[in-house]
Amino acid sequence: MENHDLHWKQQAVPTANARKEASPSPRAVLADMQPYVPGRSIADIRAEFGLERVVKLASNENPLGPSPLALQAVREALPDMHRYPDDRAGQLRSKLAAKLSLQAGQLIVANGADELITLICEAYLEPGDRIATFAPTFSEYSFGARLMNAETVSVPLPISFALHADDLLTAVDDRTKLVFVCSPNNPTGTYLPKTELERLLSRLPDGCLLVLDAAYSHFADARDYADGFELLREGARLIVLQTFSKAYGLAGIRAGYAAGPADIVAHLLAVKEPFNVNALAQVAAAAALDDEAHLKATLHTNAAGRVHLREGLDRLGVRSVTSQSNFMLAHFGDRAALVYEGLLRRGVIVRGGAGWGLPDWLRISVGTTEEIDLLLASLSDVLRSAQ
Ligand SMILES: Cc1ncc(COP(=O)(O)O)c(C=O)c1O
Repeated sequence: MENHDLHWKQQAVPTANARKEASPSPRAVLADMQPYVPGRSIADIRAEFGLERVVKLASNENPLGPSPLALQAVREALPDMHRYPDDRAGQLRSKLAAKLSLQAGQLIVANGADELITLICEAYLEPGDRIATFAPTFSEYSFGARLMNAETVSVPLPISFALHADDLLTAVDDRTKLVFVCSPNNPTGTYLPKTELERLLSRLPDGCLLVLDAAYSHFADARDYADGFELLREGARLIVLQTFSKAYGLAGIRAGYAAGPADIVAHLLAVKEPFNVNALAQVAAAAALDDEAHLKATLHTNAAGRVHLREGLDRLGVRSVTSQSNFMLAHFGDRAALVYEGLLRRGVIVRGGAGWGLPDWLRISVGTTEEIDLLLASLSDVLRSAQ
């Protein structure tokens, strides 16, 4: 009996290697997909350098924290956590529709704007199709394209990092299905002016859809900035992306939305998972939309912080790019890696530019006055010791 058991076990439990060979190979594209590299976390840096005070200026989060109304809404919704969420985020959608003067059918809510980028790629891209975008820009557009075996054609930004419609149009051909424009652009903080946006829209060939990623639109105060909603209300055919992670301070709970013509939104709804936005995120986002005081304080803090940061960098002789967003690109030349490390050791986390092909630059999120002061003092210290 014992022998029989042993024999059975040997047959039924394959070795680890045999199991590996028996599993399917992953899709070929996975071999050259670069996973997203997020900013280092506060807990990480605290542990690595034994620091008590760590300031994170690496992921363009809201330095004031979440909206108090959102926090309250989440607390109230907690006892219903055993229920599935509304699969279409109906209340949030209606609230957004009213606020934006759009139809609810023109809106789709998702688990962050990141998910929307993937949904758009899944809905529209066949293998061999192309997307066009600027470089440097947010990396998830090419990630989504790669996932679908489509190609990314990137147009390098000029030395000023200004976004021009005609530059992007040179990259559009009959294989281009999607054009992604991030405005204000991450990581440069520059933007596509309204007349350029209109020009781009009017010149795109049929069969090519513009996706305007306006994740940072709230922070833009240039008179000729456009977030795309007015164009949508006028019937233009584009997708506008928005997130609750930045101005609304809800990056951790995950919510974003896309607006577009109803037939396009229907394509995105067709590929989304049923319960993509959790119940807490739905109530948090709806409450944050009502929290005008929090949004106002956020925008005020950012506008003042942008000036404070810029002036501080100027005083230290560090060149920066004029930003319409809640971050700023700063030039350190061949000292950039050293400055990045030096800041980390002093408890200030910023984002290195190498991932965008900008090894000489660091991207710094605009924090509170106190956080910017700490950054500037640490930077001054690092630059002095690097001389
Ligand atoms: C330009 C841009 N779009 C989209 C996102 C993703 O936002 P979410 O947190 O809603 O996924 C980010 C996040 O950093 C971003 O910078």
